[in-house]
Amino acid sequence: MSTNKLKVAVIGLGNIGKVVATNLVKGNREVILASSKLEDANALAQQLGGLAKAVEVSAAIKEADIVVLAVWFSTMQELFKQYATELQGKLIVDPSNPIAPDGNGGFKKIIGADESAGQIISELLPKGAKLAKALGTLGAASLASAAFQKPEAAVQFFATDDNTINTTIEELIKDNGFEPVRIGGINQSIRIEVFGDLHEFGALGKTITRKEFKQPV
Ligand SMILES: NC(=O)c1ccc[n+]([C@@H]2O[C@H](COP(=O)([O-])OP(=O)(O)OC[C@H]3O[C@@H](n4cnc5c(N)ncnc54)[C@H](OP(=O)(O)O)[C@@H]3O)[C@@H](O)[C@H]2O)c1
Repeated sequence: MSTNKLKVAVIGLGNIGKVVATNLVKGNREVILASSKLEDANALAQQLGGLAKAVEVSAAIKEADIVVLAVWFSTMQELFKQYATELQGKLIVDPSNPIAPDGNGGFKKIIGADESAGQIISELLPKGAKLAKALGTLGAASLASAAFQKPEAAVQFFATDDNTINTTIEELIKDNGFEPVRIGGINQSIRIEVFGDLHEFGALGKTITRKEFKQPV
């Protein structure tokens, strides 16, 4: 273990969690791994090498400063209840999209058209926890393939109401191999969730670089 940056845990090691953990290790960042099954976390830790370690969910949250909840929107709400004590005061990173299969091979939104997962999650936060909506603006495939892109990094948008964590989130996104761009507070979260104008599976439709992003932020 080699860095003195804030400690990151990735909870949930499916499509997104695996890529986030892998990117962080590529970015020379230590990562604590946990999922519903310890053996999944152990297997990934073994694959990723010395910067990664696997523990149970509760221990991962306790040890980390930053907790990336790479789980489904509904699971996140369950985890808030189950680990309310451990999550107190933590910086929670939420990549979730409020979607479910639509039965026709696509996805449908499971909350109101004008609602965002970010805003709903922000109202359920454990005591003293801080929230950043981040690391969910691209599909898992692009999150892997566009990481550490050269010569210009691809953008990852984020939103937070807490300006004191901007630099920490920017560093986390850079260590994932992307250029961070804050688009505003959590009330802007809908723009960077699936179907939003700044999501790969929304109006944006692709990865872009900072130069290609023309809007003021
Ligand atoms: N996939 C994408 O391209 C994409 C893009 C952007 C954002 N997102 C968002 O990212 C989140 C994760 O998506 P995903 O595609 O990575 O889902 P996924 O492949 O189903 O992964 C979810 C992970 O969470 C774990 N998990 C479930 N319940 C848990 C619990 N109680 N405690 C700890 N871990 C638990 C699962 O473990 P088990 O398999 O053992 O149940 C699995 O490893 C979702 O909110 C999604 O909307 C996904």
